[in-house]
Amino acid sequence: MMKGNSLKEIPDKLLPVLVQSGLNTSIVAGELYYFPVTDSTNRMAKEYALSGVSDGTVVIAEKQVSGKGRMNRSWVSPAYSSILCSIIFYPCISTSSVFKLTMLASIAVVVAIHKACGIQSRIKWPNDVYIKNKKVCGILSEFSSDQDTVQYAVIGIGINVNFDVALLPEIRETATSLNQETGQRVSRLKVMKTLLKEIDLRYHDLLHTNKRDLKKEWEHCSMVLNRHVKIISGHKVTSGLAKRINEEGHLIIIDSLGKEKEILCGDVSLSL
Ligand code: BTN
Repeated sequence: MMKGNSLKEIPDKLLPVLVQSGLNTSIVAGELYYFPVTDSTNRMAKEYALSGVSDGTVVIAEKQVSGKGRMNRSWVSPAYSSILCSIIFYPCISTSSVFKLTMLASIAVVVAIHKACGIQSRIKWPNDVYIKNKKVCGILSEFSSDQDTVQYAVIGIGINVNFDVALLPEIRETATSLNQETGQRVSRLKVMKTLLKEIDLRYHDLLHTNKRDLKKEWEHCSMVLNRHVKIISGHKVTSGLAKRINEEGHLIIIDSLGKEKEILCGDVSLSL
């Protein structure tokens, strides 16, 4: 008979042997590096990228002590309760197309969350994933280029899975987790494997066939299109109606004078 700890409290681990078993991807996760603790999977991935690992190599951690977010923010999460991974790509594309990797990753997150937990999430431009009005996933894309060609790109993905965000004062007002949204413990392994498969499908297509319309898929998953948005970028605030994204992943809005404006980056808030 079990005393004290119930099965529920045994942490599920994202061990390479479990993640790679039956994965059947063509490019992603051929090589996989796993760390119980690291500073940041993005930082590790950039090191691996320079040492010449294979395309689609994945770095996974159970805990980050110095997780990085966009705009020099930090990314916090308790151990064994999130998806914390970075994927290294050598895509042979121009720097103007690099946003496609972020796009395909955010679409894959939405699809994976739906397949693994049956709930609908949406992409908030540029690369956050929300459930209703709370953030469940952040994506940090970093790349190195030579002239106009991408040398490598690192796409870092953090998904809040099995913890109560109320325990983390930094994010308690703005974030949620899959466990909170479903009311159930969620298999991180299932989310991780589904995510890698969905990324692999789209990355393979981007390199070899280009049959998928990523922009259309992204628009389908978007929570900002046709909504009034306010975008804060440094000290600059712009507002208008979000109409579309262009090939570079920039957001096109229509301002109050009916003029189109192209927004390169920033934090979006949505009006009701
Ligand atoms: C953001 O929303 O600001 C982006 C957050 C990205 C967090 C992930 S967690 C895995 C990877 N490693 C990091 O240090 N950051 C990304």
